Amino acid sequence: MKTALITGVTGQDGSYLAELLLANGYTVHGIISRSSSFNTERIDPFYRDPHDPEARLFLHYGDLADGTSLRRILENVRPDEIYNLGAQSHVMVSFQQPEYTADIVATGTLRLLESVRDYQAHTGRSVRIYQAGSSEMFGSTPPPQREISRFAPRSPYGVAKVAAFHYGVNYREAYDLFVACGILFNHESPRRGETFVTRKISRAVGRIRVGLQENLYLGNLGAKRDWGYAGDYVEAMWRMLQAEAPGDYVVATGVAYSVGEFCEEAFSAAGLNWRNHVRVDPRYLRPAEVQHLCGDATKARNELGWRPTVAFVDLVRMMVEHDTELAQQERTLQAAGHKVKPHTAVPA
Ligand code: NAP
Ligand code: GDD
Repeated sequence: MKTALITGVTGQDGSYLAELLLANGYTVHGIISRSSSFNTERIDPFYRDPHDPEARLFLHYGDLADGTSLRRILENVRPDEIYNLGAQSHVMVSFQQPEYTADIVATGTLRLLESVRDYQAHTGRSVRIYQAGSSEMFGSTPPPQREISRFAPRSPYGVAKVAAFHYGVNYREAYDLFVACGILFNHESPRRGETFVTRKISRAVGRIRVGLQENLYLGNLGAKRDWGYAGDYVEAMWRMLQAEAPGDYVVATGVAYSVGEFCEEAFSAAGLNWRNHVRVDPRYLRPAEVQHLCGDATKARNELGWRPTVAFVDLVRMMVEHDTELAQQERTLQAAGHKVKPHTAVPA
């Protein structure tokens, strides 16, 4: 049975990928960052105590900023496959913390590649690496974007992902490492971080629906994104590492909607009119915006046999239903006298 190592295992994708790999019989090791509060909420439901003989998911403290920790974990875990999903992944935050974003997203990837290069050289074992690239790398290049489209990033995050992508390609060419770069378009789920726009919307819809909130403040309603379901997208990552040779693949649905259209669909799923609740607040506008992303995943379909299974409308409904339940729980607790509040202090 194979062993996989995941950076960013506590994130949206890391949690779905860990579940997929466990279901496929893998032993899975995840790297987690030290945090003063718990950050394993997404993996807690399927994590088993390591004393349990059935346990196949193991966690290690480490950080993409800390090359020593990466090397040590690699030596201990001896993985067949590495999925590099760890990142400061928020585009708006990257304008506020560009150096940190570059250090984790770009140089962090380099640290990992260097560790694997040395590890392979001295052990003779081969390791396959998945690098989490992003449609944000295409930036201002008009759709449809495909593997050969020009990278024209519009944010420090996008620039750092382009650098990480080129590091991956360079290590493939220079050292013959098996590095597959996924260029994934936006993918969402009920586990999406609450500061990304889709989840911000579905959380607000749930709370407005049960009477806990009146308005939702957003930035650019005209931006268009190609939104898919995260559960489908981790399957594409896995398929990339099962291929005969490493390659670069766009993963997308091929259909784009605006932020306003997402609002319309989400509010109407709850029987609400979005225009009565959505307000624009300029503080959510970005210094430079990516206006239109819509991917062409023909290569992934032809070479990996991958295709999305969840349509836009079903994705929106899945998120709204989940977040309506959360809002109902919140209301029940409030009615019982508990002081509960969502994490509204975090700007998004
Ligand atoms: P996410 O939910 O933000 O998760 C990011 C993960 O990275 C978290 O586990 C986070 O840990 C971890 N992390 C943050 N800083 C780190 C560091 N210094 N060292 C190691 N780990 C660190 O992101 P996601 O949506 O799952 O995305 C996964 C990857 O795909 C990211 O690289 C992202 O940039 C990329 N991507 C995402 C999309 C998308 O639409 N979701 C599209 C294209 C590419 P904490 O939980 O402790 O913060
Ligand atoms: N977050 C946020 N908050 N975005 C808003 C808001 C708001 O209040 N109002 C409008 N938007 C717009 C953003 O300006 C952007 O055009 C769009 O909604 C999507 O924003 P996000 O959900 O934050 O995602 P993103 O497209 O910037 O980045 C995500 O997708 C990339 C792939 O294209 C992230 O997951 C990245 O990590 C990923 O690489």
